[in-house]
Amino acid sequence: MFSKYKEKRVEKIAISDIDLSNVPKHVAIIMDGNGRWAKNRGLPRVAGHKAGVQTIKKIANIASNIGIEVLTLFAFSTENWKRPEKEVKFLMELPQQFLLDYMEELMEKNVQVKLMGFDKQLPDNTLNAVREAEERTKNNTGLILNFALNYGSRAEIVNATKNILNDVINGKLEQDEINETTFNNYLLTKDYPEPDLLIRTSGEQRISNFLLWQLAYSELWFTPVYWPDFNEQLFLMAIYDYQKRGRRFGGLEE
Ligand code: IPE
Ligand code: IPE
Ligand code: MG
Repeated sequence: MFSKYKEKRVEKIAISDIDLSNVPKHVAIIMDGNGRWAKNRGLPRVAGHKAGVQTIKKIANIASNIGIEVLTLFAFSTENWKRPEKEVKFLMELPQQFLLDYMEELMEKNVQVKLMGFDKQLPDNTLNAVREAEERTKNNTGLILNFALNYGSRAEIVNATKNILNDVINGKLEQDEINETTFNNYLLTKDYPEPDLLIRTSGEQRISNFLLWQLAYSELWFTPVYWPDFNEQLFLMAIYDYQKRGRRFGGLEE
């Protein structure tokens, strides 16, 4: 499937083909396929993760250039701890490396770095690096580069429910005040608009416990290309396709 896709000439999309007045505000990406990319090359899985970091740089740049407000990247799920310890360790070192290499450029591009996930289980080095990047970039006003790290949507929803219950018990919230808007305020995405577009690479067409509540009306876009081979061209293609879709949110098209 992958090799066939590669043979097919991809239609060229340039920034000039994109309607810059209608770019999605929030794009979420399930960056998948690093392991298979490496396996196809006879390399260890971690080589795919390393290559995937370069794609993050490319995609953050293009997202910033076309005026996307929030780019949420699924980097590590609450279920990914099931992987071999060595792989987990390697993955946990990547944020630090990425931020070290890329911090200057992030500042130049006015990007704000954010962490979205259950931070308590993260190794100290990983957490400190991301928290430091958040601190350094907190006054930037451009793209929000939101890393979903140790993120799982079911855990997020259960956690929100517990916090709502606590606030009701403590008199901070009335039971009658619980509705979709207040519920949303207890989620890790409370500061962001809902994702307009979800992209998943690697040919898998599933959500894998990512943003279950928030994706209710998102447009979905899948590509068989593995994350290390994903690029600006394909990202623009996703945006271009998104702009051709009619979003109805359950109503009728205008
Ligand atoms: C995505 O690539 C990165 C993470 C999930 C951390 P994978 O590691 O899932 O790669 P495949 O799906 O096994 O090819
Ligand atoms: C989803 O990919 C998680 C990330 C990309 C971080 P997985 O590779 O973990 O998902 P499954 O296991 O194929 O559903
Ligand atoms: Mg995978």
